[in-house]
Amino acid sequence: MKSRTVSELLSQDIVFPEVEIKGWVRTFRANRFIALNDGSTLNNIQCVVDFENFDEALLKRITTGAAVYIKGELVESQGKGQKVEIQVNTIEILGDSDPETYPIQPKKHSFEFLRENAHLRTRTNTFSAVMRLRSALSFAIHKYFNENGFYYTHTPIITGSDAEGAGEMFKVTSLDAKNPPLNDEKEIDYTKDFFGKETNLTVSGQLEAETYAMSLGKVYTFGPTFRAENSNTSRHLAEFWMIEPEVAFMDLAGNMDLAEDFMKYVIKYILDNNREDLEFLDKRLQDEDKRKPMAERNEMTLIEKLNFVTDNNFKRVSYTEAIDILRNCKPNKKKKFKYLIDEWGTDLQSEHERFLVEKYFKCPVILFDYPANIKAFYMRLNDDGKTVRAMDILFPGIGEIVGGAQREERLDVLKQRMAAINIPEEELWWYLDLRKFGTAVHSGFGLGFERLVMFATGMSNIRDVIPFPRTPQNAEF
Ligand code: 4AD
Ligand code: MG
Repeated sequence: MKSRTVSELLSQDIVFPEVEIKGWVRTFRANRFIALNDGSTLNNIQCVVDFENFDEALLKRITTGAAVYIKGELVESQGKGQKVEIQVNTIEILGDSDPETYPIQPKKHSFEFLRENAHLRTRTNTFSAVMRLRSALSFAIHKYFNENGFYYTHTPIITGSDAEGAGEMFKVTSLDAKNPPLNDEKEIDYTKDFFGKETNLTVSGQLEAETYAMSLGKVYTFGPTFRAENSNTSRHLAEFWMIEPEVAFMDLAGNMDLAEDFMKYVIKYILDNNREDLEFLDKRLQDEDKRKPMAERNEMTLIEKLNFVTDNNFKRVSYTEAIDILRNCKPNKKKKFKYLIDEWGTDLQSEHERFLVEKYFKCPVILFDYPANIKAFYMRLNDDGKTVRAMDILFPGIGEIVGGAQREERLDVLKQRMAAINIPEEELWWYLDLRKFGTAVHSGFGLGFERLVMFATGMSNIRDVIPFPRTPQNAEF
């Protein structure tokens, strides 16, 4: 007999004389009803126990969190809200769970408490729903690129280059400087640590992905990236996952089209395939809203927000237009922005980005053509000599979700821009080679995966959409 998942059993229209199931007990009521969950769905299957038929010692071990094996008959349920239930014939306790010390009780726990129990928090409905959606989004991302002729490319995690030129890197230590190997013949500087070379954890796979785009045409990466920025916000992690497509012969307009099409596709995928989890999270947010003052409530439900993104065009606005709007607007009746945008060239803060998206345009916004001096060295300089073909996509409730650009393909201009910020040519000789041998227009972008998961699940803290968050305060697990 095949052991089935709860999800499979709950979708049955017919009854079975004998089924087997394994899972974790959520609750055991009245010595009679086990609510069993195995992670395959939000829903528990009800397993009905005739306690007269079982040992009292065994029944005592059916506690919240215990792993159990159950064999029984799948019958029509008398209870509301479920079609079927299991009439239990056999119970085996696979793993006990001490009710006194098991942290996940059948009640509402705060997200802060659950973060401290990140190893167990996916045993709750909210976190299991979020992580199933995270998995579905990963799958949708690969599916999109696969269907559109992209090659999945693995770029290095340990690298010598600082792709963003922002110096926010974690150094890699490979050798124990205090205990150098005895048979060491080479003169190695053990303070520079990748076998004598200075290396760091990658901040972005872009530069390496560019080399593959310039031979395979259309590629993407999807991997972990690291930033040693000491920002303790609800939208920053020290370790996060990034999706970075890179395409040869594609300009900035094509890049915007690709990003918009891609974002819509992955969101539509979960709307079509993960309804149950989305509806659960949507209801959670609506309940939370009811406890807030009217002015702070969401204008749209989660599912309405997701549908809105798939059904409407993203607004494309140049940095210069955005600055004009921000200079002339009043963000609300009383307050001004904390950071005033006084002159052209100032970088936008998240309060400005959120104003544009949430109050002014009320839809996703693609900002493009930023001042060169606030963007990375590799972005294509425009003919005006002061702006670059950069684009950031801003999402409601999130702010920046995508950052990308058309890349500088002209060797002389790229060299000048590197020199201006003191990047030695020797460090990126291979990157410059792409501009020497068969250079061409090319573009790409980076999507912060956790920010996408936040948007898709309505979770408001980035620590709650990645299994084990790494932040300046926390790398517990
Ligand atoms: O804007 P960023 O820094 O762009 C790049 O790294 C480019 N090399 C990407 C490319 O063109 N291939 O980062 C891209 C995205 C941001 O828009 C944001 O969504 C996310 O990565 N991101 C972070 N997410 C979580 N925590 C952090 N500390 C993040 N930093 C960036
Ligand atoms: Mg950025």
